[in-house]
Amino acid sequence: MSNRKPLMAGNWKMFKTPAETQAFLEAFAPLVAATTHCDVAVFPPLVNLAAAVAAAQGSNIGVGAQNLYWGKEGAFTGEVSGHMLQAAGCSYVIIGHSERRQYFGETDATVLRRTQAAIEYGLIPVVCVGEKLEDREGGRTDAVLAEQFDGGLAPLTAEQFATVVIAYEPVWAIGTGKTATPEMAADAHKFIRGKVAEKFGAEQAAATRILYGGSVKPDNVKSLMAQEDIDGALVGGASLEPKSFASIVNF
Ligand code: PGA
Repeated sequence: MSNRKPLMAGNWKMFKTPAETQAFLEAFAPLVAATTHCDVAVFPPLVNLAAAVAAAQGSNIGVGAQNLYWGKEGAFTGEVSGHMLQAAGCSYVIIGHSERRQYFGETDATVLRRTQAAIEYGLIPVVCVGEKLEDREGGRTDAVLAEQFDGGLAPLTAEQFATVVIAYEPVWAIGTGKTATPEMAADAHKFIRGKVAEKFGAEQAAATRILYGGSVKPDNVKSLMAQEDIDGALVGGASLEPKSFASIVNF
């Protein structure tokens, strides 16, 4: 066991209203109130952040957003800044999720800018990397992960990088019910940790949390978490229901 404290993160994507957010947290908070072995956070849509922060107050549940823009404020219609997220009570933000990369033109260069902005405003960035099915089948998994790391994270200073959480999410495993085998995930995590060591040193690599994401469910979380290099989960579908997410958190 490493001394990295796991993080169990619920990525709600575009699901739930403010009232549903409040109802979720009222049911979920007691189920994880005694949880100390990991950090717990939910990532609701922007319009629900105020409800989530209010409902999570006094609990051990952190709240994060699913994206941010890198400016502080300005004429950027439709965008929200790290400054605003922090002021709204967020402590985390997901950056570079594969759905953002696939549908909204996110690139490694914009991942870098968003990550820098998150750190500047005191948010913990959860930066997503992962290969597509054709990359895996073509034997390019490591090359893709290296490219995403080199473009999105390696240019950070060591001080900036210290707060980063990485989420390895093989794109072919997201929302498909196909989980990477624990061994496949472990290999990718080990490779990513090696990249962190190369760039930021062995001590930082030993401290960096690397989450696995992609069809994590109550019945597969334990075998994933048994892998030395897996430090938590980024959970989509199975984080939408309080009992299901609680049983993942308390695996
Ligand atoms: P999933 O999503 O758990 O529904 O596969 C994970 C994610 O996209 O973060």
